[in-house]
Amino acid sequence: MKHFIKIRDISIKDLKKIILDAKKRKSRRKKINTLDTDKGEPLKGKLLIQMFEKSSLRTRISFYIAIKQLNCEALTLRPDELHLSRGGESLADTAKIISTFGSAFMLRTDSDKKLEEFKKHMTIPIINGLSPSSHPTQVLSDIFTIEEIKKKSISKLKICWIGDANNNVINSLIEASVKFSFKLNIGCPKKYQPNKNLLNWAKKNNGKIKIFNECINSAKYSDVVFTDKVISMNDKVNKEKKLKEFKNFKVTTEVMNHAKKDAIFLHCLPRGPEVSDEVFLGKKSKVWQQALNRIYVQKSILLYCFEKLR
Ligand code: CP
Ligand code: NVA
Repeated sequence: MKHFIKIRDISIKDLKKIILDAKKRKSRRKKINTLDTDKGEPLKGKLLIQMFEKSSLRTRISFYIAIKQLNCEALTLRPDELHLSRGGESLADTAKIISTFGSAFMLRTDSDKKLEEFKKHMTIPIINGLSPSSHPTQVLSDIFTIEEIKKKSISKLKICWIGDANNNVINSLIEASVKFSFKLNIGCPKKYQPNKNLLNWAKKNNGKIKIFNECINSAKYSDVVFTDKVISMNDKVNKEKKLKEFKNFKVTTEVMNHAKKDAIFLHCLPRGPEVSDEVFLGKKSKVWQQALNRIYVQKSILLYCFEKLR
């Protein structure tokens, strides 16, 4: 049994195995329907219990489809219907009950501590479906998408991130840049630089990260330009003020023109004003393919958790 909580805790061998498995599974599903099951039904009879303490469209649907394709079931709990959220039951007891009935637990939460507490008390795999500090299923899937489009190992590519550099998605991307050994340029306002502890960890582990406090130089010669919402779900900030602080950190056609000619644009979604419509809806944007790929990678993440990856 394995958990999937942070990219930095998973070996590169396993991360690559997940991506390879997803690639094989995707290639075998070209002509079949969304809910048809994968050959071999590797997780037949299992139950994934999921709980979202924060909004979700893509993660919710892609986990549901992933589960169906593996021929198991998904049950989504509403936090406001549990005794836990009203203080009527402890987290430890809730975790034990979920472990008794379910085969795996996927949690989207507003508290990293809660994720750790669940992990401590669970006897089934737990998957982080987004927390304030990381979004590992998204970023692993994004690596899959990049390698699928670029047809090369990500270690040979230069990735650029523009925008808030202190949120869950960039944290996981920083961890991934160390694990997969790719160059990562970050363009962000000084006030929103990456978390210092994470950067120190990256430096100690030979991370290839460069930080710029503007967009153009960070985008130069890159193969992929990423951004994310300026205001994340967990942000407890003055939104108007933060949006103003990011007015020069928008992915526009001019920014994309400084990246390589064949550069692509990615965004985990939902989007805000951090990208122009022209880029988001333009030819270089691969955001729909990026969203769809969540299904394939999540299937392989589930198989990793059950130690069923071939
Ligand atoms: N990208 C992503 O995680 O989307 P949702 O918040 O809609 O799940
Ligand atoms: N950083 C964003 C990601 C949304 C999928 C947030 O946490 O809201």
